[in-house]
Amino acid sequence: MTQAPQQWTSLCSADEVPAGEARRFEPDGFPALAVFNVDGEFHVTDDLCTHGDASLADGWIEGEEVECPFHAGKFCLRTGEATAFPAEIPVQVYRCRVEDGTVQVLPPDPPTAE
Ligand code: FES
Repeated sequence: MTQAPQQWTSLCSADEVPAGEARRFEPDGFPALAVFNVDGEFHVTDDLCTHGDASLADGWIEGEEVECPFHAGKFCLRTGEATAFPAEIPVQVYRCRVEDGTVQVLPPDPPTAE
């Protein structure tokens, strides 16, 4: 059985997220997402911190990590790995691209059957 191709979802214009900043978006079919612009390279994660009720789009970008604004937990923007306590659970990251000036994301890969 073949899987249907995944659909890219448009989130925002790339211009809406200046370099070194992040914005929160609520696209249909996704939880709230945070879009980060790291020197022109975009990353998309769930906006909600895995440690508490904080918006990661309100955090601080440090290299390729975001520091949560509540308790200073950190997450890798590439992998979602929690890199600083008290954050311990990874945050969901999404594949993204910029197409015709628009930031687009794919839904997460479904879990593979074992
Ligand atoms: S809410 Fe993000 S580190 Fe606590």
